[in-house]
Amino acid sequence: MNSILIANPKGGSGKTTLATNLSGYFAKRGQHVVLSDMDRQKSSLNWLERRPDNLPIIHGLDGRGKHSNSLSADWTIIDSPAGIHGEKLSEAVKKADWVIVPMQSSTFDIGATEDFLKILSDEKAVRKERTFVAMIGMRIDSRTKAASKLQSYLEESGFPVMGHLRDAQIYVQAAEQGASIFDLSPSRASKDVQQWSMLLHWLVSASREVK
Ligand SMILES: Nc1ncnc2c1ncn2[C@@H]1O[C@H](COP(=O)(O)OP(=O)(O)OP(=O)(O)O)[C@@H](O)[C@H]1O
Ligand SMILES: [Mg+2]
Repeated sequence: MNSILIANPKGGSGKTTLATNLSGYFAKRGQHVVLSDMDRQKSSLNWLERRPDNLPIIHGLDGRGKHSNSLSADWTIIDSPAGIHGEKLSEAVKKADWVIVPMQSSTFDIGATEDFLKILSDEKAVRKERTFVAMIGMRIDSRTKAASKLQSYLEESGFPVMGHLRDAQIYVQAAEQGASIFDLSPSRASKDVQQWSMLLHWLVSASREVK
């Protein structure tokens, strides 16, 4: 069982987009995926309800209870709520093999995420290298000043940066249909799918054996 926590206390940073698309990717590979939703807004579970039957199956779990992880799954992807902190955050970090932090490039986003990264690096599981943290830039237009500011900020954060995803309507449209970009035709999605390669490679190469 491999478990990935998606976290950033900043609202709207891209957690659910990351959680649902990662789930779609592993499901497409034929693996047993549990999407665990800690958010009482249930955006991930609502996405699953919209998911058509002909797409690869993803199992939903209400992650607010004690059992936010699934032992039988190849992958448990945990979507967390905005504002997560304190004991709830520590518990979730401790249970995860990876924490992935999606981050946008505005000054507000950088400011709001800064404290969170300090808290994460002080977590025991992270210090002891039982849980690994990585960052990913969300809704990034690589031609802008904001993008290069984010890039240098991320490089200084001490955590690896697993690429940037551009701002693209395909994410919004896929979400509306209960799909991930990996479920769409390659002719439509290949440019965006490519931007996931570093993150996916990192996760797959370090994962525990899956069927
Ligand atoms: N790369 C992208 N391109 C275009 N739109 C995006 C992208 N990533 C996220 N969005 C959109 O941004 C909005 C916020 O994203 P999302 O819901 O994933 O954030 P969140 O961190 O889960 O928010 P919350 O803190 O409220 O749970 C959504 O409408 C989503 O469709
Ligand atoms: Mg969300």
